[in-house]
Amino acid sequence: MKQAFTGAAAIRGPSEALFPPWPERQRIDDYLTRELARAQERVAAGSATPTLDMDAFRRELAGFDFAVPRPLPALLDWSVGMLEHGVVHLTHSRYFGLFNPNPSFPAQCADRIVGSFNPQVASSATSPAAVALEAHVIRMVAQRAGLPAQSGGHFTSGGSEANYTALLCALTRAHPQFATDGARAFPGPPVFYASKECHRSWVKIAHQAGIGRSAARLVATDGSGRMATTALAAAIAADLASGCIPVLIVASAGTTNAGVIDPLPDCAELAQRHGLWYHVDAAWGGAMIASEKLRSVLTGLERADSATIDAHKWFATTMGCGMFLARDAGALSAVFQVAASYMPSHEMSVDPYMNSAQWSRRFLGLRLFLSLASAGWEGHAAHIERAVEQAARIRQGLEARGWSVVNDSPLAVLTVVPPPALGCPRTIVERVLKSGRAWVSLARFEERDVVRICVTHGETSEEDLSILLEALTRV
Ligand SMILES: Cc1ncc(COP(=O)(O)O)c(C=O)c1O
Repeated sequence: MKQAFTGAAAIRGPSEALFPPWPERQRIDDYLTRELARAQERVAAGSATPTLDMDAFRRELAGFDFAVPRPLPALLDWSVGMLEHGVVHLTHSRYFGLFNPNPSFPAQCADRIVGSFNPQVASSATSPAAVALEAHVIRMVAQRAGLPAQSGGHFTSGGSEANYTALLCALTRAHPQFATDGARAFPGPPVFYASKECHRSWVKIAHQAGIGRSAARLVATDGSGRMATTALAAAIAADLASGCIPVLIVASAGTTNAGVIDPLPDCAELAQRHGLWYHVDAAWGGAMIASEKLRSVLTGLERADSATIDAHKWFATTMGCGMFLARDAGALSAVFQVAASYMPSHEMSVDPYMNSAQWSRRFLGLRLFLSLASAGWEGHAAHIERAVEQAARIRQGLEARGWSVVNDSPLAVLTVVPPPALGCPRTIVERVLKSGRAWVSLARFEERDVVRICVTHGETSEEDLSILLEALTRV
């Protein structure tokens, strides 16, 4: 017989606001799906830039003291409206922005599935299928990048986390006592090298890793945004002579400002000569591995000890979804192994919590899995090649109107300078953003202000390109 609790008040039922009955959930879910589709239609026809009155919004926000519950459907309407009017739209086909994508539909479906099951992907005992799927996707991507069959890696929150992992691997390999003693283990200050055009996550990473920001040696470029290997060799020699300990060379394969690819084979060569870890930061450009036609621009990637490729950039998944690829998966356990009796599994080269910086983790890999499985490498190649072609069209259009393209990139990003009569890059960017007709950015490339235009959307049309050209050149 069931034992009843006696002497205590009955426990209240579940909070219906948090866990509504299933028919109610379905009704709200259908409503939300419909409203989101309508909002995206309005976004497509409207401004690419925020139109929200932020003072009014802050006042509205202050009214949420969470004392009195409000009905969810109204809150959902409010949330959709906030995003519809209060952010730059990556889903707008004239977002020529930073590397953030218009997310692919399969990736959005993955988010929905994962949000519903909410698996804990820290441990293989908790989520065996999810852990195996992520490992499979990582292996396939690593092999496509030219790394050997025994390569490993994991999904990360983004490129910054993946880059941080590279530095930790390099430091751990450089000195057997780094794991226990940190930077104190080294007989001199550990340092690493990346070009002065590298992503600025590297500077933060040096700080985070406890070796100090000055450990990030930002090497001169050759005047076209590419790391100058003579300057790199000289910097290594000078550091060795002064008692510093070089541990890592970072080559960018697609710089953030200008899509420039560092001389990967030369960087690999120098790293090998000095016994340094060689990392390729291909956060955006790495997706070129999908294209048989264009992937040769990444020659030298296959020699990397590790690489960063963000799925949430040119593989067009939702954010944040980066990847860290390692030639030797064992390097990861050397950094992240840990004993925790409360964890349900302890498999050294398998369990994500023992091989990556995160502990609790979201099942990110399904996004890229569904994208690759439904579109194939071929579909992703078409996505990339289309963007590169569109960048070439923009280039032609601007050059015909007297603009100069100042970067030389095989990827889909242009850094451009207007003819003097049109004004300076800053005023042009401000004017375009104010018009809401497109989103472009101001950047500095090789000591000059430029307008940066990157094709990222995937559904940008010929008409969008004409509107962009018009918005850039109309005074
Ligand atoms: C070359 C490069 N590396 C790293 C990053 C950082 O990636 P995330 O913003 O995903 O952390 C970026 C971002 O644009 C990048 O362009």
